[in-house]
Amino acid sequence: MNPDRYKNMQYRRSGKSGLLLPAISLGLWHNFGYVDLFENGREMVHRAFDMGITQFDLANNYGPPPGSAEENFGKIMKFDLKAYRDEMIITTKAGYLMWPGPYGDWGSRKYLIASLNQSLKRMGLDYVDIFYSHRYDPNTPLEETMGALDFAVKSGKALYAGISNYPPDKAREAFTILKELGTPCVVHQIKYSMFVREPEKELFDVHSDEGVGCVAFSPLAQGLLSDKYLNGIPEHSRAAKSHGFLQKEAVAPTLYKVKALNELAQQRGQSLAQMAIAWQLYDNRVTTVLVGTSSVKQLEDNVEALNNTSFSQEEIDKIESILSLPSIETKS
Ligand SMILES: NC(=O)c1ccc[n+]([C@@H]2O[C@H](COP(=O)([O-])OP(=O)(O)OC[C@H]3O[C@@H](n4cnc5c(N)ncnc54)[C@H](OP(=O)(O)O)[C@@H]3O)[C@@H](O)[C@H]2O)c1
Repeated sequence: MNPDRYKNMQYRRSGKSGLLLPAISLGLWHNFGYVDLFENGREMVHRAFDMGITQFDLANNYGPPPGSAEENFGKIMKFDLKAYRDEMIITTKAGYLMWPGPYGDWGSRKYLIASLNQSLKRMGLDYVDIFYSHRYDPNTPLEETMGALDFAVKSGKALYAGISNYPPDKAREAFTILKELGTPCVVHQIKYSMFVREPEKELFDVHSDEGVGCVAFSPLAQGLLSDKYLNGIPEHSRAAKSHGFLQKEAVAPTLYKVKALNELAQQRGQSLAQMAIAWQLYDNRVTTVLVGTSSVKQLEDNVEALNNTSFSQEEIDKIESILSLPSIETKS
């Protein structure tokens, strides 16, 4: 492993906790399942760690098939990275459908704890660093879901508790409950990008009031905020894959803005993907930008975003004016 791996990465404090997270983290939602090439995933994890990316984000259901990303990651840990466990933040989540019946979905204590036990087995780990409730469950008392996270931490199966995709009012309640239990929430993982601005309305203020960090996922809107779809949908892209979560139909309506953003990125000497990541890091309400990549090259490109995360007011205004343009449907 590269002995200089910590030289160029930046680390940001997660809220008011003691935990420092890398400015860029790697997510294993796509590209790490049994449908993908194991060696490609392995190379990306190695390269990430070598560039100072300490945080690897998983969930019980990542694959496909569900569970396979954790199993593949477990193999990489066992064969290659075991010796570095204390230098890594490994996270997992439970909240979406994982197994049939009433105990394999949502936010009950039964589901969360059973799922965490399964995740630890799949990854061959004694503990995860952050265990998340993956989504708010309106039919389970929040005290029960947060109680399960608290138990996970107090039993040593997780070091920190996190929540993901909670609406602002429920996030605030969850933070309060966890604080009272003595297991303060360390992060809220949310969808945020140039195309998804919802958190700016209320959620960021909740995080800052409560001293909770923010993990921003899908910073490239699953690849839309890059130059890859400018000339059509490439064969192996996420939008072209039948198991990918990006629908082909989502591409065309964004192209008008993407072209304009791409020109601005070029003027800054960056790729659009790099500018989209830098734009998030310019904002200190984001603790870490959680990228997904399908190749080592993409990962390296994305980390290069760190070389220029400053923006002039003129550039910020230009980005806002492009983003506020009406979306145009094009026939392609
Ligand atoms: N908590 C939640 O509910 C939740 C939900 C979604 C995601 N997440 C987490 O967030 C992570 C990231 O999400 P995401 O994968 O949607 O993130 P993303 O970074 O917005 O999209 C990743 C995709 O963008 C493309 N891409 C990445 N770098 C590129 C580059 N330099 N140039 C051109 N294209 C590039 C690749 O597409 P191609 O595959 O087409 O090459 C890649 O698969 C996930 O892995 C997961 O850990 C969490």
